Amino acid sequence: MKDQAFVKYRKVYLSELKSFENVISKLFINDEPRSLYEPCSYTIQSGGKRIRPFLVLFSAKAMGGKFSDVYNAAIAVELLHNFTLVHDDIMDNSSKRRGRATLHKKYDNNVAILTGDNLNALAYEYLLKDVKNNAKGILSTFTQGIIEVCEGQSLDKEFESRRTVSITEYKTMIYKKTAALAEMCCSVGAQLMNANVKHVKALANYGKNLGMAFQIQDDLLDIIGKENEFGKKIGSDLIEGKKTYLFLRALEKANKDEKKLFYIVIKNKGIQQNEVERFKRLYEKLGVIEDAKKEIVHYTNIALKNLSALPDNEGKNMLVWLANSLINRTT
Ligand code: IPE
Ligand code: IPE
Ligand code: MG
Ligand code: MG
Ligand code: MG
Repeated sequence: MKDQAFVKYRKVYLSELKSFENVISKLFINDEPRSLYEPCSYTIQSGGKRIRPFLVLFSAKAMGGKFSDVYNAAIAVELLHNFTLVHDDIMDNSSKRRGRATLHKKYDNNVAILTGDNLNALAYEYLLKDVKNNAKGILSTFTQGIIEVCEGQSLDKEFESRRTVSITEYKTMIYKKTAALAEMCCSVGAQLMNANVKHVKALANYGKNLGMAFQIQDDLLDIIGKENEFGKKIGSDLIEGKKTYLFLRALEKANKDEKKLFYIVIKNKGIQQNEVERFKRLYEKLGVIEDAKKEIVHYTNIALKNLSALPDNEGKNMLVWLANSLINRTT
């Protein structure tokens, strides 16, 4: 994509993001009981990149629709995503997200569990506002996306206590916990515009591969990111003993002594905060930072290839821009 076009679509994203923030930040401000809707607001008003709603909006536009045709569906996927984040932060013992306290830290676990449940239900309510035809197909795609996330999250937790996890198993896990949701967003955006099967499939595959790149990059930023940009605590995956791409690849490439060290991490279910820097240097030495970057480019290219099945239009251009811009993300 040419520089000029890149700047143009970045502007579109930023201006649409502003409108989206305006709408989504006001959703629950008057709802009762406040004990439920204030934490819902806290979560939804904390910003974020809003990638999933943009996948819905851009996919619909690529299929000849307008943003307004799928705006509620775009809100729905962001509510759903926020539900998964709130519960994920409990499961991962995370204290910081989007630059502020996670919901269960600000309130407590009970509030966070219920807020998540409610966001999940509200997501359906918003999706339904935009469903006109093919309700069964769209709702089943949406529901399948949620089931995949739960399965992926279960594997993610299961892998913490497993001594060996292959890169193939890791990829199945991240497909389920992250890529399936991005896949669903694109598929739903297209289905809401009554797109044909070939186009739905192409967009779904775009989303799926973008999602794979996205999660590997999330693993990478957990190590090389800056806390004030990334908004989450750096090194938290190592501290929690997560089987990330970097960890598994490092284990593959490690020499005998380094392998011993990694197996101690597994046995101890993670490391201490003050050891993060040491492991970062080890990752650098083993070249796994570069390996992760290659995987991100690899999946992004597959995502982009899938777009060639689509007609040329502004919606498609926006999807091209999104994939290219995510490669360099720091947040
Ligand atoms: C975080 O998603 C969870 C992952 C799947 C890695 P995002 O990085 O999209 O989080 P926000 O919504 O922008 O904060
Ligand atoms: C994201 O995995 C998966 C879901 C939220 C479903 P992570 O646990 O890596 O996400 P972050 O890093 O906490 O955002
Ligand atoms: Mg997690
Ligand atoms: Mg997490
Ligand atoms: Mg992460």
